[in-house]
Amino acid sequence: MEFACINGFSIIFVNFCSNHAREIQEDAKMNGLATSVICLIVITTLLSILAFYSPFPNSFNFSWREEINLNKQASIHPQNVGDDHDVEKCDLFKGKWVRDPRGPRYTNASCPTIPTVKDCFMHGRNDRDFLYWRWKPDGCDLPRFEPKAFFRIVHGKKLAFIGDSLARNQMESLLCLLSQEEAPIDVYKDPKDRFRTWFFPRNNFTLMVLWTKFLVKAVEKEPRVVFNLHLDQVDELWAQNVSQGHVDFAIISDSQWYFKKNYLYEGGKLLGCIYCNETDVTEFGVEFAIGKAIQTALRYINDCKECKGMVTIVRTISPSHFENGTWKTGGICERTQPYTREQAGKLHQQGGSKNEEEWKVRNHQMEEVGRAREEVGKGRDMRFEAIDITSLMLMRPDGHPGSYWRDKKKKGYNDCVHWCMPGPIDAWNDLLLALFSRVVDKGMLRSSSDRVVRYKEKG
Ligand SMILES: *[C@@H]1O[C@H](CO)[C@@H](O)[C@H](O)[C@H]1NC(C)=O
Ligand SMILES: *[C@@H]1O[C@H](CO)[C@@H](O)[C@H](O)[C@H]1NC(C)=O
Ligand SMILES: *[C@@H]1O[C@H](CO)[C@@H](O)[C@H](O)[C@H]1NC(C)=O
Ligand SMILES: *[C@@H]1O[C@H](CO)[C@@H](O)[C@H](O)[C@H]1NC(C)=O
Ligand SMILES: *[C@@H]1O[C@H](CO)[C@@H](O)[C@H](O)[C@H]1NC(C)=O
Repeated sequence: MEFACINGFSIIFVNFCSNHAREIQEDAKMNGLATSVICLIVITTLLSILAFYSPFPNSFNFSWREEINLNKQASIHPQNVGDDHDVEKCDLFKGKWVRDPRGPRYTNASCPTIPTVKDCFMHGRNDRDFLYWRWKPDGCDLPRFEPKAFFRIVHGKKLAFIGDSLARNQMESLLCLLSQEEAPIDVYKDPKDRFRTWFFPRNNFTLMVLWTKFLVKAVEKEPRVVFNLHLDQVDELWAQNVSQGHVDFAIISDSQWYFKKNYLYEGGKLLGCIYCNETDVTEFGVEFAIGKAIQTALRYINDCKECKGMVTIVRTISPSHFENGTWKTGGICERTQPYTREQAGKLHQQGGSKNEEEWKVRNHQMEEVGRAREEVGKGRDMRFEAIDITSLMLMRPDGHPGSYWRDKKKKGYNDCVHWCMPGPIDAWNDLLLALFSRVVDKGMLRSSSDRVVRYKEKG
């Protein structure tokens, strides 16, 4: 089976059956398809290569910060003002990667839960340099993840990663970081290993991943390939758990499944499509659909009865780094060092490139976080924050498994989408803790019994 995904200027024929990530394979099996055809990610890599090799006049420019109206956010969020610690005030997401002789926080020996597809050393990766960098925000130092401090904040609470396999990637990193302090118990796994729950008994902390491809309701149009997306209705699978008050902290994301042909619905009516190239159907950008979906998800949380007091964090899109091809055509990611800010800037400024599209997605995601904050009802004590990792991860072409996600003898695509563990993805959890510290310092967390408590102990 073959179908066309149209992305920018290029058409990529996607046809992969047996050599994609395990979770996808299982999904396909469950659905009884002998031959599964899934377009998970459409990458216009040729264009990013152009972006990288062509001299580009503009240097990396972070003017997008202004686009999201920080003044408005500051007035709603007092943690942005009047604090002595500079880490409390500085923009955590603007900065650079600097050398860090300390190296990784865990290994495949100290963290038994690293999934094999992300255990890059197990599959022969030899270079280690990519482990010796830390993220340095311009205005402050980002503290290294401290499991004890994290547990103090989340004690007695439930945290859910809501999203696709990249949400899972971050959950797995957090699991490794925390398991250096306490071993987790595997308490729940659905038959497809999509929904997974871990429990840390000593810290009474529940960590879960709630799987969703799109965040919103998706009805298969062509099995596993093309979906009708109802942009104004949440995906019930994750929403159920949230609406039952099962979640105190939600880290929410979506993206890669949108980069292919899908049809968009609102109010049950066809609105248009992404990448369908049909004369009678309005074509929308990926960022439009993802923005709408995040809006629907955040509104749902904002309005849900049992969600009062929840802390919701949007993790912005994680960029991919295929060079010299797509995953299908043998695109690679073999770099062993980060890009500079300027190099990364060129990637996302190249018109029509996948990275440029990702950048637009990121801007829409940030706008929706701002909107959700404005829409919080009186006395609801809701928090909406962002882990804005797009620009910092754009600088890490060296962090992906590439060909080291499974046995080298087998041919197949290179994974330039997910992240090796340990690796730069661990910084997402440094950022998560830093963000939590800000929220918790201002004493706004709910407890299961009385919903809102002042958290006295400082991380
Ligand atoms: C663990 O990592 C080492 C390299 O650090 C590698 O040689 C080994 O194969 C890995 N073992 C497992 C079981 O993943
Ligand atoms: C663990 O936390 C839950 C709230 O999530 C609470 O109801 C329960 O009493 C706590 N258990 C212990 C042993 O502290
Ligand atoms: C989500 O909710 C369903 C239905 O209540 C429940 O069976 C399941 O255990 C929950 N999953 C998680 C991970 O909490
Ligand atoms: C879209 O469809 C038209 C008509 O079928 C075709 O001529 C054109 O090349 C297509 N464009 C892309 C980008 O595939
Ligand atoms: C990618 O292709 C270009 C042009 O063919 C070549 O110069 C470059 O070395 C290739 N990069 C890698 C990493 O193979």
